Amino acid sequence: MTLAAAPSPSVRVRAPGKVNLSLRVGPVEEDGYHPLVTVFQAVALAEEVTATEVADGAGISVTVEGPQADRVPLDATNLAWRAAELLAEHVGISPDVALHLAKGVPVAGGMAGGSADAAATLVACDALWGTGLSRGELSTLAAVLGSDVPFALLGHTAVGTGRGHLLTPAMSRGEFHWAFATRDEGLSTPAVYRRFDELCGPTAPPVDLVDDNPLMQALRAGDPSALGAALHNDLEPAALDLRPELERTLEIARNGGALGAMVSGSGPTVAALARSRQHALAIAATWTAEDAADSVWCTTAPAAGARVL
Ligand code: C5P
Repeated sequence: MTLAAAPSPSVRVRAPGKVNLSLRVGPVEEDGYHPLVTVFQAVALAEEVTATEVADGAGISVTVEGPQADRVPLDATNLAWRAAELLAEHVGISPDVALHLAKGVPVAGGMAGGSADAAATLVACDALWGTGLSRGELSTLAAVLGSDVPFALLGHTAVGTGRGHLLTPAMSRGEFHWAFATRDEGLSTPAVYRRFDELCGPTAPPVDLVDDNPLMQALRAGDPSALGAALHNDLEPAALDLRPELERTLEIARNGGALGAMVSGSGPTVAALARSRQHALAIAATWTAEDAADSVWCTTAPAAGARVL
């Protein structure tokens, strides 16, 4: 009689993409980063990372599935790879793990899909390796990996300051419906910030959360119309300057009755807030019909942060 080998232990973790409901950017600082005040909301488009035990000394490997999997690097430049490496180094163990990423967030679209992979990997490897770090410790490691990674751990709705990595949870009532238009050709985040510097220079006013009072009130009230009117993105002029065709995508959403439409984060994704799921589907259908997007996505927000499934 032959015995089947027991499957290797594995841990599966889901982490959300995000939309910046407001993104206020101050003048660039000496370290090259910009001080931010941003209101993040996690969306129901999510990444799933499965971390599977491998033999000692086998190292890290990354495999990817999903509609845009061919656009994701499989080497040490992948943020999930770097997350596993950083956690192993932090606790002083050898980084041996097979990581499988199932991508549900548009790639290179300003929706933090790579950051969600990193957050999910931290949680998955922490569980697989039994390293037992607190959420606070994981969040500190997350901030080393990228400005948006701590929010992918936390999820729901939060105000981000500093580089966007210092988070305070915020109240949000009800469910909001979104349509997203993505482009195959991504926009480089550093390039968008550089264009922001060229357009606004040192004259960019300091950022102030007071400017988001109407937005925070709209979230607390669960009022989609008020939220749509309060959406704000200081990076939008820079993204539009680099990709003028996004103007038409915004205009189509507004003509379709979107409660608000803006470039998402550093772009090139365009986000439209809809009245209902049906309305989000209608906006997405118009984008497709008018050839104003390479892919369209409909989802809801807020959603939970990184968690073991
Ligand atoms: O921190 P992260 O790796 O996500 O940032 C990517 C790039 O975006 C940075 O190298 C920087 O050029 C720009 N950035 C910035 N100010 C921030 C966050 C990001 O200038 N607050």
